[in-house]
Amino acid sequence: MRTLRTIREVRDALAPLRAVSRIGLVPTMGAFHAGHESLIAAARAECDVVVVSLFVNPTQFGQTADLESYPRNEARDAGIAAEAGVDLLFAPPVEEMYPDGFQTWIEVTELGSVLEGAFRPGHFRAVATVCCKLFNIVRPDVAYFGQKDAQQVEVVRRLIRDLDLELELRVLPTVRDEDGLALSSRNALLSPEEREQAAALARALATRDPAAARRLLNGYDVDYVEVAPFDPPVLAAAVRIGDTRLIDNVPLEGAPR
Ligand code: PAF
Repeated sequence: MRTLRTIREVRDALAPLRAVSRIGLVPTMGAFHAGHESLIAAARAECDVVVVSLFVNPTQFGQTADLESYPRNEARDAGIAAEAGVDLLFAPPVEEMYPDGFQTWIEVTELGSVLEGAFRPGHFRAVATVCCKLFNIVRPDVAYFGQKDAQQVEVVRRLIRDLDLELELRVLPTVRDEDGLALSSRNALLSPEEREQAAALARALATRDPAAARRLLNGYDVDYVEVAPFDPPVLAAAVRIGDTRLIDNVPLEGAPR
């Protein structure tokens, strides 16, 4: 596996492979867990070349404290990626993605302003922009995302459609701990007591019923519990456990994910 820091290096590495290879991209912010590993495994099984981007995108964090506390360990992540058969790890510095004078943003207006978007203004604008940049840099045939971030998936799907981007979006099921808690890099920030409380979120969503879920989350600091008309429709929720904000969703149609 090669770790690349610049856009030029990625383009040069992929140029000779493009015509003959199916290129898969797994966009990540690092702090790998089994959810990331399932995306990488799918990319490895379905593509000739697997590129993983590791970039903690500063513009998608509302509060500096959230950005600063985001777990980072590039050496560990690189070890996991190499073990999983990744070909290229693209881990650029912030200046490479946002050079001086950067001022172009992509806004998925309606989808980006509800649910998570209402609580995190600007979040999806930053996600759409960085994903579009990564798609332009890597020009993958397929990009892999987790169902765990259902609204992000919906925003990226809209972005691909609206801007006629030439790539396929693959969405993989949420990976959960034994008690149902969806794996998330933010789980690492929970104390043991908070980790126990966090399991209530998955239990509530497993009812697949917004009223029942709200009842089970009574006493929690809940931002929303809503049915969202995504593809597929989901019951989605966000709760704050101590200083950590967790999101999760369950699809309401199709096989459980
Ligand atoms: O889901 C994430 O890790 C991030 O939002 C993404 C898609 C890598 C964009 O920064």
